[in-house]
Amino acid sequence: MINQKRLVAPSILAANFANLEKDIALINESEADWIHCDIMDGVFVPNISFGLPVVYSLKKIAKKPLDVHLMIVNPERYIKDFFDAGANILTVHYEASIHLHRTIEEIKKYGMLAGVSINPHTPVNLLELVIPMVDMVLIMSVNPGFGGQKFIDFSYEKIKQLRRLSDKLNPELLIEVDGGVDLNNAKKLYESGVNILVAGTTIFESDDIITTIKSLKNA
Ligand code: DX5
Ligand code: ZN
Repeated sequence: MINQKRLVAPSILAANFANLEKDIALINESEADWIHCDIMDGVFVPNISFGLPVVYSLKKIAKKPLDVHLMIVNPERYIKDFFDAGANILTVHYEASIHLHRTIEEIKKYGMLAGVSINPHTPVNLLELVIPMVDMVLIMSVNPGFGGQKFIDFSYEKIKQLRRLSDKLNPELLIEVDGGVDLNNAKKLYESGVNILVAGTTIFESDDIITTIKSLKNA
């Protein structure tokens, strides 16, 4: 059976870091399903965001699962730490983990949902052997590192290819898309096979965060 879940995960990279509690309270109240946390190390991506202590503090006030997206090299070094900090879904990059099979097994050992992400230039078919063992694939629709970038159009085709592969290899697979998601492309993304829309700028720069989340969810 094709997975038809439709979820929204606000990316707090675009939230107000001087008052995260206020933005988390709005997300708690909204129809958002997960809270997307972007961890950047300044090596895998040319930017540094935030790390474990922030995730740990968010966990205390968040009423939704934490969807942690690791944009760091050798992410296997930090699986236990992010579990201890409160991650519910842990996603690593295909390009950043040399022994990806072992990394995925390790994430699952802690009982977290295991995700694998691919950069825009990485073809979907490289994931064929890991699709049966992961809970989620995250398609990056911008080059990771920054919020507010333009959606890369060939991502739709990658999502459709991935859906076709997952129908054969893992019908329960969740497909997440991240980067440049807005109210204009949300519907087409769901129709292409996406289950989880990540959105930062679209949500946190809108006048009404709760309504924008609702509109994305019901696109
Ligand atoms: C980019 C991050 C995204 C980012 C998306 O490297 O992985 O999660 O927050 O931001 P928007 O929605 O503004 O493109
Ligand atoms: Zn992300």
